[in-house]
This record gives sequence, structure tokens and C-alpha cells, in this order.
Amino acid sequence: MSTEAELAAQAIEILQENDRGSYSVPMSGLHPFQWNWDSCLAALGQWHFDEARAWTEVETLFAHQWPDGMVPHIVFHEADESYVAGPGVWETGRKVPTSGITQPPVAGFVLRRLWQRSRQKSALEPRLRALLPKVAAWHRWFLENRDPEGTGLVAILHPWESGRDDAIDWDSALAGVPTEGITPGPASEPQNAEADGPLPQGHTERCLSLVEHFRGLGWDHSKLHDASPFRVVDPGLNAILIRSSADLAALAADLGEYALAEENAGFAATGLAALESLWSSSRSQYLAFDRVAGAQIESASVGGLLPVFAGIPKPRAAGVAATIDRLAAATGHVVPSHDPADPRFDARRAWGGPVWLVVNYMIADGLRQAGSEAVAERIMAASLDLVRANGFAEYYDPGNGAPLGTARPTATAAMVLEFLDLRDGD
Ligand code: GLC
Repeated sequence: MSTEAELAAQAIEILQENDRGSYSVPMSGLHPFQWNWDSCLAALGQWHFDEARAWTEVETLFAHQWPDGMVPHIVFHEADESYVAGPGVWETGRKVPTSGITQPPVAGFVLRRLWQRSRQKSALEPRLRALLPKVAAWHRWFLENRDPEGTGLVAILHPWESGRDDAIDWDSALAGVPTEGITPGPASEPQNAEADGPLPQGHTERCLSLVEHFRGLGWDHSKLHDASPFRVVDPGLNAILIRSSADLAALAADLGEYALAEENAGFAATGLAALESLWSSSRSQYLAFDRVAGAQIESASVGGLLPVFAGIPKPRAAGVAATIDRLAAATGHVVPSHDPADPRFDARRAWGGPVWLVVNYMIADGLRQAGSEAVAERIMAASLDLVRANGFAEYYDPGNGAPLGTARPTATAAMVLEFLDLRDGD
């Protein structure tokens, strides 16, 4: 058992070990690349010991934003083709190679948090002013390219865009993706083959087939949505977009950027109203929607609890809190990434059961704002207990707390620093 000070020191050591100067890798020794949401969340951790470095992390990511506004899910800062979906698989034609898909847009939320806490506002204001229109362009890109019919909710076109790469939520929609002509890949989640449970037959091939399909369309994002055999509305990603839009609106208003403020407040309000269509009363949580099949996806996962982060109405937040209580009683460790009552639940499949601190962080934050302090406190305490008892890990078995995935991951370390601070009474 480590003391709080020891835990914080270990977390800082991990963040420093994974720091490549102007960006962080998710974990050392695997791939020398920058992942989008890992990096933004890493910045929250870096703030605790180096405020300026935290801003650099986000700036480096946005330096690789595409002209159409998309911020890629991976920036391949260094050549390394050992990764199953390395630069050669994407061929996006960028000077510094990147992937051609995106990830949950958590940057707006992160920037507001960094700004609110800032100890050097006058030095950082120009940096914030430079980032604001870039984040706004990314949000606009989402609405224009992933919600062409103006429903208020955006679709992911690839499981990896959700950040919950191998979630059970995607299995049924992925089954409709053709695999002809694709070289068979390893039967595991591409990022880390170490400890994952088995994935459905053809999972990786289908993921690569989508990449190949989009590559064939020249990465023209205005065409991809309608042409994609995989179009899913993920409540988790939408919740993050809504929250980041609301936070960006607040930041923009603070800086007198009223047009950006109004635009983003509009995105947030429309998205929040539209989220309601994903609510399932019988499950007391939100569910994903398959736009290709035109049907709700019966898969109760943590993606359907994340909307609490978006500022949903209080009765809905209370419903989510009650579901988390039920899950806690069933698994012991919160929040499992999939409902253990589902026969497909798998305590070792990365996003098919295990606990991840990054989603715990967003859920706890949302619950606090909704007034469900006790459940939020329980999630934060449970998160720290997992790390204290089992060491730093990418994710944890929700039953016995066993550490899974890679050790010493950036995102877990960043969240530990945040939880320690928040529990001190931030
Ligand atoms: C895994 C996770 C994803 C993360 C990536 C890099 O693929 O599912 O959320 O961004 O690893 O850490």
C-alpha cells in the first residue's frame, strides 16, 4: 500500500517517462506515437507539476489538425511499422503521418479545466486564444461530417473513434463490414496484445477493412459518412463533444469571442436535447444507435453512462447513478466498462468489462455536477484503491482488481494525480 505522496510521485515518474519532449506516448516501449484523447488527458496530469508543459501537449496535437478541422486519433511522430495500423496502413498523405479518423474530443473540456486552474493566466492567454478556433473547427467538423442530416448527434465511422476500441457495443455493427481481400490480423486489440480476452472472429480484419475503404475514398471526410458500412451513434463520444462544446463556449465568452461562444453553446444545447433519444428506461442508461441498421444497439456499456458528463437532466443523472450502484454491487470494482449481467461481458476484454480510470474520471465529474456526490466520491476512492492495491495499469479486472493491459500508462497516471487532488477538496 502506497501513501498518497508515494502514489503521486509514481504517477509523475510515469508521465515523465512517457514524455517525448512536446508530446507523450500512451506508454513507453510500445509505439512512439501520440494518441489524441490520451494526450489531452495527460495534460491534466502534467499540470500538477509543469503547467506550461501541459499546454504544449495539447498544442502539439493541434499542430497536426487537418485542413478540414479533423484532429487525428494518432500522430505518427516517428516511423514504426510494427504497429498493426501504422502509418503505411493509413496513407493519409500528411507531412507528419497521421491516422485518418478521430477520437473523443475531450480537448475543449481539458482546456477549460487548465484555464480555470491556471496560475499564469497572462502568459497563457495568447496560447488559449490560438487554440480556441482550432478546437471550434474540430467541433464544427464533427457536426458537418458526422451529422449530415442535422440530428444533433454525431456518428463514429470506426470503433477506434470511440476510444473504447474493442467494446461489445460495436460487434453487431462491425459484423456487417466486409473483409474480402484483407490480410488476416492478430486476434486481439491492435494496441496491446498482452492481456486482452479474445475478440470475435474477424474483429481486427474488419477494423482494417474500414481503414482500407476510407483510404480508397481518398480520406475525403465529406464522403465517408454516407459511404461507410459502419455508422454508429456512441453516447459516450457524443457526451464528450457536448461537454467540450459547452466548455469551449464558456472559454470563448470569457475571452470575448462571442461568435465561437454562441456556435458552441448551440452545439451543446442541440446535442443534449438529442441525447434523450438514446435513453433506455428499462436499463436506466443510454444505448448506442446503429445508423446503418436504423436500430438501437442492445449493449449496456460504460459508453451509456458517460452522458452524465454532458450535463444531462437531474432525473437522468440519478438514473445513471442508480445503475452504477447496481454495477458496483455486481462486480466489486467500479465502473465496469460493460454490464456483467450481459452474457457477453468479459472481465479481460479491454472495453468489454474492465475498469478504466479515464472514464471513471469523466463519470465522477458529471455526477458531482449533478449533485450525486456520494456516488462520485465512491468512484474516485475506488479508482485510487485499485491503483494502490494493484499498481498502475492500463485497465483492471472489475471482479478481482487484477491489473491488465500495459503497465505504467500515461492516462492512468494522469487520472491518479487528478483524483488525489480532487479528493483533497479541489
Ligand atoms: C487503446 C484504447 C484507446 C487508447 C489507446 C492508446 O487502443 O482503447 O482508448 O487511446 O489504447 O492508449
